[in-house]
Amino acid sequence: MKDFKHFAKRREIFAAKMQGGVAIIPTAPERLRNRDAHYPYRFDSYFYYLTGFKEPEAILVIVAGTQDTPAKHILFCRDKDVEREIWDGFRYGPDAAKEVFGLDESYAVSELDKLLPKLLADQTAVYTAIGQDTAWDQRIVGWINKVRAQIRSGVQAPTEIRDCSLLLDEMRLFKGAEELQIMRQAATISTQAHRLAMQTTRPGMFEYEIEAELLYTFHKHGAPAPAYTSIVAGGANACVLHYIENNAELKAGDLLLIDAGCELHGYASDITRTFPVNGKFTAAQKDIYQLVLAAQQAAIAKAKPGNTWNDPHQAALQVLVQGFIDLNLCQGSVEAVLESKDYKRFYMHRTGHWLGMDVHDAGEYKQNGEWRQLQPGMTLTVEPGCYIRPTDNVPEHFWNIGIRIEDDVAITQTGNEILSAAAPKEITEIEGIMQ
Ligand code: GLY
Ligand code: MN
Ligand code: MN
Repeated sequence: MKDFKHFAKRREIFAAKMQGGVAIIPTAPERLRNRDAHYPYRFDSYFYYLTGFKEPEAILVIVAGTQDTPAKHILFCRDKDVEREIWDGFRYGPDAAKEVFGLDESYAVSELDKLLPKLLADQTAVYTAIGQDTAWDQRIVGWINKVRAQIRSGVQAPTEIRDCSLLLDEMRLFKGAEELQIMRQAATISTQAHRLAMQTTRPGMFEYEIEAELLYTFHKHGAPAPAYTSIVAGGANACVLHYIENNAELKAGDLLLIDAGCELHGYASDITRTFPVNGKFTAAQKDIYQLVLAAQQAAIAKAKPGNTWNDPHQAALQVLVQGFIDLNLCQGSVEAVLESKDYKRFYMHRTGHWLGMDVHDAGEYKQNGEWRQLQPGMTLTVEPGCYIRPTDNVPEHFWNIGIRIEDDVAITQTGNEILSAAAPKEITEIEGIMQ
């Protein structure tokens, strides 16, 4: 991405929403894995959202404007360092970063402790993401205390620390056209990975071999990492919701549940497909699969402006519960099963979450105690499922069936766009591609 004007625009919007004060937004720290090897680096989502800057050890400072002065956007980042760049590669340095990323000022990150107390002098409030990192919270308090130490010379210190995530979460919830374009690409790469998984899977292979096909496809198309640890769960493993061992042998007659999506330019995709290891659904598997698919379609139909966040979930539940009753998995009326929550033996999670830079993305689900309205630009997953563990009162042919179908959906003016539509989910399509 070479055009950073979207990031500058977001900074301006954020600065306009601040009520005075100074925002201090750091990127994520590098984390040691062991000895001197690091985990793969991933920037902080808030920081990246406002800068587009991917290097570690960087901090964005925004001084809110007044009636007479515009807001000031300042980047602290690593200095140029010929020696380190030989070992670790290119770094922008403050001067180039300021030009390329369109900041007003930039400084070496080593200047932070010296300059921040000056920037905080005579300011009323500090905006930062409170409570995410204790060490960071302490640094903020340390800078404020440095300003307080000068009070006798007439300097005023900030008296409030405000959570910047409230403003930023609300901005991040509504995706712009440029964000939707990236999310479309991310989802498309992930659908290719799911297709390849279906084409490759055979009895006798191991779950990790299929995971390798997914990672191969992500990397091959320029997505540097999965957005979360891939779930590749054969047979009974599919009934473990967060199964990530991915080391079991795949058996004919079992289903394979794959929940995997890549991250591209900082945006997640999150897709689940479930298909038979040997390419043919059994009758019992078909019964449950068609039920989950019908629930998903009912939920997607409700994902549109005018409905609330909870409507897709309720629609999925209605279909699933009716199906559980028809299949004799639950007894009584739909209302009674919804009331007793007996369905939770087979469906124990909700039907989706916001999707964006984080797989479980920023944004409130309720406002003033009410489920919030769906509006154009919101992106979410729709992912009903059914997980049947072996138990006495369930027919044996349903045991160890675990099915989830998950798509990425963007709310549009008139309804929705399914970003992950290219991953097959009709039984005939799946059996066809697996031939
Ligand atoms: N893959 C995480 C989720 O579906 O929420
Ligand atoms: Mn999900
Ligand atoms: Mn998922």
